[in-house]
Amino acid sequence: MRIRKKPWAEAELENNSRVILDAPAKKGKWAEFFDNDNPIYVEIGCGKGGFITKNAQAYPEINFIGMERQQSVIAVAARRTDEALPNLALLWENAMNLSDLFEVGEFQRLYLNFSDPWPKKRTYKRRLTYRGYLESYRNIMGEHAEVFLKTDNRNLFEFSLNEFCADNWKLSNISLDLHHSEFEGNIMTEYEEKFSAEGMPIYRLEGRYDK
Ligand SMILES: C[S@@+](CC[C@H](N)C(=O)[O-])C[C@H]1O[C@@H](n2cnc3c(N)ncnc32)[C@H](O)[C@@H]1O
Repeated sequence: MRIRKKPWAEAELENNSRVILDAPAKKGKWAEFFDNDNPIYVEIGCGKGGFITKNAQAYPEINFIGMERQQSVIAVAARRTDEALPNLALLWENAMNLSDLFEVGEFQRLYLNFSDPWPKKRTYKRRLTYRGYLESYRNIMGEHAEVFLKTDNRNLFEFSLNEFCADNWKLSNISLDLHHSEFEGNIMTEYEEKFSAEGMPIYRLEGRYDK
């Protein structure tokens, strides 16, 4: 996601209590932070936060954490979400650092929505569904891991199917056109709203890995 640098971003992150700037200090203590033992679902690359916020509103019995590596983008997400949602936290963090932020088994599901496709062949290891990433996700989630993926990018989807299979994940609810499928309860992201309005099919899958 490309957005203009926001001069107010730093102040927003410092003053908005939804944003957790000392996230590594919460490693192993997220249940304490949320003050309950509810499951924790994480979105990597939450962008402007629409998906994770709507999930937090719809599922108060789940704790949601949105991670975004771009400062200005997470600042926009933080500014947009002014409702009191005790089950939502936003982090200005990179997916590469998951193990600095969470103990093994501390979260149970990961959402990857419209992740950057890194289309050049030589950059395939940067795709968030590259098998090295998948391995790190299942290692950190522990006994039972779930990754739910949505994308408009057919090449990224094909790549992801192969990577999940190579890393022995079990796939279900695969859809090649989510909005014309029987899938119920879909919560849209900002990119999804834009691309589906343009008539593009949305690809989706659920990946699970049990140790
Ligand atoms: C194409 S946007 C999609 C945003 C949102 N998920 C949506 O569907 O509207 C992808 C977002 O992922 C973020 N991102 C990419 N790689 C990331 C990483 N390694 N860690 C955290 N965020 C990342 C980008 O900064 C960007 O904002």
